[in-house]
Amino acid sequence: MTPIPAPRLTDPKAFGRVAVLMGGTSAEREVSLESGRNVLEALRARGIDAQPVDGIPALVEALVAKRFDRVFNILHGNKGGGEDGTLQGLLEALGVPYTGSGVLGSALGMDKIRTKQVWLSVGLPTPRYARIAPNADAAATEAAVRAAAADLGLPVIVKPSCEGSSVGVSRVFDAAGLAAAVALAARYPGELLMEQLVVGGEYTVGILGDVALPSIRIVPAGEYYDYHAKYQAEDTQYLCPGLDGEAEATIRALALAAFRAAGCTGWGRVDVMRDAAGNNYLLEVNTAPGMTSHSLVPKAAGQVGIDFEALCWRVLETSLPREAATP
Ligand SMILES: Nc1ncnc2c1ncn2[C@@H]1O[C@H](COP(=O)(O)OP(=O)(O)O)[C@@H](O)[C@H]1O
Ligand SMILES: [Mg+2]
Repeated sequence: MTPIPAPRLTDPKAFGRVAVLMGGTSAEREVSLESGRNVLEALRARGIDAQPVDGIPALVEALVAKRFDRVFNILHGNKGGGEDGTLQGLLEALGVPYTGSGVLGSALGMDKIRTKQVWLSVGLPTPRYARIAPNADAAATEAAVRAAAADLGLPVIVKPSCEGSSVGVSRVFDAAGLAAAVALAARYPGELLMEQLVVGGEYTVGILGDVALPSIRIVPAGEYYDYHAKYQAEDTQYLCPGLDGEAEATIRALALAAFRAAGCTGWGRVDVMRDAAGNNYLLEVNTAPGMTSHSLVPKAAGQVGIDFEALCWRVLETSLPREAATP
């Protein structure tokens, strides 16, 4: 593995006054609050002057009053959730440094279909898919769904293009199941993504700075990594590193290439499926991954000796100007 460079800063005061931005109004509010509390505690334990801020309007008020020098963004989700590029644009406009990806990477990462289009255009592997545009005409939607399923072949997975946490996701094994899967995904705004189901192992690769952390193999006790398995179940198994030798090096290199191709920087997580023949397929990139007790980036960082406090410090360093990285 590429060696992880030493932290860039040693003095906690050098970060100035840090807003830990959490909560917000997205469906992932509760997860974000838990992540945020953990991050706040870790930064303070390292002597950093960090304060919690709940949601973007409160942040704007505090920034106008010049109460903070930088933002640790741990909001999750779209629509004012802080992970979709809008917050990043606001902070760029105000000239306030922040952690993680910029406008482009954040916005693209929130849209699974467009992320896949970018990956395919640079030759990176992702499951074959069809885009189902929202259409008030039920008969037209049904025809589009049937044509897409015929082209892709069953089984498929149906998901909203712009959600997270496995909400609205279902697997479809026979034509009779298509309508219900589409109806469920269509409860969420935007386009639907119908994708070939990859039968095999599920992996995720955390990215920290310019390094891909060891992969994690996710083994849910149920059928797949649904909302319950992500946040509630205690019986999901996480194996880290998820692979060894050449296969592990390959999946890490692929994840890093996918992260960069999607315009992402700083830190994040790339989800990958691997079929029985060992072919990798990219699913999506997450630009503000969870930092809860169940979360995956902290597990992967721990595997290479970066504990939770050190991880938060390094993520905060992603808000420093990039050129300062060269000693
Ligand atoms: N093409 C696919 N083949 C097999 N499983 C999939 C596929 N796409 C998604 N899944 C399963 O559904 C879960 C959620 O899908 P994902 O694309 O990562 O969206 P999100 O995590 O944003 O809800 C994945 O963690 C995986 O378990
Ligand atoms: Mg995912």
